[in-house]
Amino acid sequence: MDLMEFLKTKRTYRRFEQNRPISDEVLADMMEAARLSSSAGNQQPLRYLVVRSKKLNEQVFPFTYWAAALTDEIGRPKEGRHPVMYWAVLCEKDSKNSSIGVDAGLAMGNIIDAAWYHGVGSCMMGNINRDKIREILQIDPSMEILYMIAFGYPAHESTVISPDASGKLAYHMDEQENFYVPKRELRELFEVR
Ligand SMILES: Cc1cc2nc3c(=O)[nH]c(=O)nc-3n(C[C@H](O)[C@H](O)[C@H](O)COP(=O)(O)O)c2cc1C
Repeated sequence: MDLMEFLKTKRTYRRFEQNRPISDEVLADMMEAARLSSSAGNQQPLRYLVVRSKKLNEQVFPFTYWAAALTDEIGRPKEGRHPVMYWAVLCEKDSKNSSIGVDAGLAMGNIIDAAWYHGVGSCMMGNINRDKIREILQIDPSMEILYMIAFGYPAHESTVISPDASGKLAYHMDEQENFYVPKRELRELFEVR
């Protein structure tokens, strides 16, 4: 797949083949991608908890919130379509690192790129119940959960579309649960002098 096709198809995925696990080899590439990511001052403040156990996955699932543009009933993946792996992206609590959000964004970008290279789809998740997830995963009190990332082989397609005449940016889903994601046109984003 060429780079632009990779970027076009590397979307957020929210329905997965729940019975198809992610291999150790793919996981190793994802971990290496996280390790290699750029970091302000090369401080590398992020840590990761990888959750692959079916039992823990099912415990975490109710405390992740899917597709805010849709109702929870519609947006939430049904049984059989749940993620097969989560990563918790962690940093030290009260971190004085003012670039932590940039570091997290870059690392998550690397991680989901490495996953997509192997056909594994993902959903970065900021809308999560951090207290409950902390409890379930027994995360050290000194660490903060910045984001969760959900992973699995996609069970739907996601297509970039142009915003309609109203300019609305909310994504939608069709009856086959394929997603359509409006992206602003280039002319709205760029001025070239
Ligand atoms: C920082 C961040 C947090 C996000 N949190 C959630 C979330 O909690 N739940 C969810 O379903 N999607 C979440 N998303 C996915 C966005 O909704 C998605 O990126 C957006 O709709 C555009 O779709 P695309 O990624 O396919 O371009 C998040 C994305 C980012 C970058």
